[in-house]
Amino acid sequence: MKNNRFDLFVAPQTKQPLILRRGGLETADGQQRFPVVLHTPVLLPETDASVWHRELVELILWEHPDEIEKIYADKARWQKDPNALYRQTIRRVIGGKEEILEAIERYAAADTGIWLPKKPASNAVSFAAKRAFLKYSTARNGKRRMQTARASDFRESYAAYESQIAALRPRTLLELSTGAGTGTSLTANAMPDDARLYTVDIDFNCLGNAAGIGNYHRKTVVPVCANFWYLPFPDAVFDCVCTLNGLDESREIRRTLEEAARVLKPGGSFAVFSRKTAFMRQQRILADFGFNEEETTALLHKCRMYACAEHLIGLCAEKGLALQRQASFPAGADLTWVVSLFRKA
Ligand SMILES: C[S@@+](CC[C@H](N)C(=O)[O-])C[C@H]1O[C@@H](n2cnc3c(N)ncnc32)[C@H](O)[C@@H]1O
Repeated sequence: MKNNRFDLFVAPQTKQPLILRRGGLETADGQQRFPVVLHTPVLLPETDASVWHRELVELILWEHPDEIEKIYADKARWQKDPNALYRQTIRRVIGGKEEILEAIERYAAADTGIWLPKKPASNAVSFAAKRAFLKYSTARNGKRRMQTARASDFRESYAAYESQIAALRPRTLLELSTGAGTGTSLTANAMPDDARLYTVDIDFNCLGNAAGIGNYHRKTVVPVCANFWYLPFPDAVFDCVCTLNGLDESREIRRTLEEAARVLKPGGSFAVFSRKTAFMRQQRILADFGFNEEETTALLHKCRMYACAEHLIGLCAEKGLALQRQASFPAGADLTWVVSLFRKA
């Protein structure tokens, strides 16, 4: 591992090494250039969306991008009850269960890149995103994130994830998804003082959490705005790749796992905190259309999303990540967390 926190990066698509020059990161020939905003590299592939939500509903509505835009534009209704808005839009635009299944069949047959909205990566860092980043980046927020994780009803499962990472004593870590920062807090706390944690999220706002958490723990936490499908790192550089609920909301799970396996060193570990079954999360949308657990799981498989912890074992095995152990933590009538550890051969 090199010493400078920016030395490790490569271009997300071509994987050419990047150097810090003129306040940005660029390839040696200057042909590809990526911004560094608030000390955070923005290494998004060219085709990526700036504002890009990841709900299953978007896959059902994938042939109607303007309807997806409308959902998120209707802020008041979305904040009040997003699932009701999703259900109403699906009913109006798609229809019932049969039509949903047909739309997903078409999605399953489509090329991964087709539905990515083509917006410039610079949109990812709007003024509002920068403002949110700064709000989250204080050490006080980092402290609050840790306290919230400790006080959570899920603290037992969080502790299992944390101690799994601590036991690995990794020096170089990559976290898939910063989000609200729960996983980042636990990981930064668990890792050795001289370790370095890179945490990746496509949503620039969230990355402020990483900065705040790093400041609070006095550990090296490097926020990176990137897409899991195009991780901006060379092959075999991390001792540990970890994720707390980062797989459940992400599309293209096989591709994400392939990238995770690629950047892991041989013998490296992949620590995953996830839902036992994604049905628990999706039922608020799908139950209304008559989907049961088995049908929802099949639907998620079809559209290449995380379906359940058992499904994950097979997908990881395909990418050379063998299960070491898996523990379940029931957290309520319809929720069970699973903490899994995989190892790259
Ligand atoms: C449920 S949150 C993760 C929770 C977070 N790990 C925590 O501990 O609070 C899911 C996050 O994954 C990010 N995400 C989803 N798909 C992604 C992708 N393909 N690439 C990068 N980030 C992605 C979202 O922006 C979101 O912040």
